[in-house]
Amino acid sequence: MLDIHHGDNLVILERLPDASFDLVYIDPPFNTGRRQNRTQLRTVRDEDGDRTGFAGKRYRSIQVGQRGFADAFDDYLAFLEPRLVHARRLLKPTGSFFLHIDCREAHYCKVLLDVLFGRASFMNEIVWAYDYGGRSRSKWSQKHDTIFWYAADPKRYTFRYDDIDRIPYMAPELVGPAKAARGKTPTDTWWNTIVSPNGKEKTGYPTQKPLAIVERIVRVHSNPGDRLLDFFAGSGTLGTAAAKFGRDAVLVDANRQAIAVMKKRFSGVEGVRWFDERAAKRESVVAARGSVARKAVSLKSADARPASVEPAAENADPKPASGAKTSNARPKPSRACAEQADRRPRSASKRAPRATHLPAKS
Ligand SMILES: C[S@@+](CC[C@H](N)C(=O)[O-])C[C@H]1O[C@@H](n2cnc3c(N)ncnc32)[C@H](O)[C@@H]1O
Repeated sequence: MLDIHHGDNLVILERLPDASFDLVYIDPPFNTGRRQNRTQLRTVRDEDGDRTGFAGKRYRSIQVGQRGFADAFDDYLAFLEPRLVHARRLLKPTGSFFLHIDCREAHYCKVLLDVLFGRASFMNEIVWAYDYGGRSRSKWSQKHDTIFWYAADPKRYTFRYDDIDRIPYMAPELVGPAKAARGKTPTDTWWNTIVSPNGKEKTGYPTQKPLAIVERIVRVHSNPGDRLLDFFAGSGTLGTAAAKFGRDAVLVDANRQAIAVMKKRFSGVEGVRWFDERAAKRESVVAARGSVARKAVSLKSADARPASVEPAAENADPKPASGAKTSNARPKPSRACAEQADRRPRSASKRAPRATHLPAKS
């Protein structure tokens, strides 16, 4: 089963019950300060074109679209922290959390994760090393991402050693033919090329991560039938890996284009359910407008009543005297949650009520 939500992940995460996922993998925007764009091109035959194709034929490229999302936050950790608090809350006692990030933010995130999970829960800093694109002439070319692994319980977690894919030895002649044929397990440095711009895997979504990297995480760190979560889903790479290995997954993305890419990517996959938080919000705004209009009408007709008869609704929610406690006062949040609440934009307090079409807490 694959549940895909279109909406701000914070709103959706708040609704998910504690300890309901075996594996959480996220690949948030890296705070590059730029817009992440991928231009889609189509080529047509043209003798004066800018590209050469098969058998030396010339082609002209035409831009047919562009997909992208903004990747700039004034205070990146303030954006991430409340979401990481939920990630920790949502993990089952044997669950694992993976954060995929780049070198600009990795160190700040590591310190934050140590606070939220506890230093003992830190398991690995995996380096995904690739070798593609231009080389810098002024510093070492930056060709890796960091993936932090934290276990909810560092003594009890899923690690399916036998399901690790094997890689070739660097010097097979030194280990003997049997070992050389079997290959070795990777270390915490994973060499893997980026998604090929011309390959079958490419969805056209900027920042799409290679399936091989995410598949390794899914295969080794979860069991068949487990429930996985990616709340910065993008093109849905985690969902593809989950479907391939018989795991359930919940994916969330706020970007319309990400949802469009996933619709295409999962078109042939069974058991996919779509939820649109934004549509639910729009519906609730329309419903709220309707109720305001109805209230106005009922107030108008109330005006016609004798002055001594007050409309009941006006008396239903009297303002408490200053300092008085109200019965619906919110419980005091924990420190982390209090910070999270403080950082929420003002509009969050006006958030639409729960979307009724979302699955109930299980
Ligand atoms: C780096 S991309 C993820 C790429 C993905 N791992 C893949 O393989 O395609 C980050 C994604 O986070 C999404 N995003 C950013 N802020 C979000 C938010 N508040 N709620 C949900 N999604 C968000 C962006 O739309 C973007 O698709």
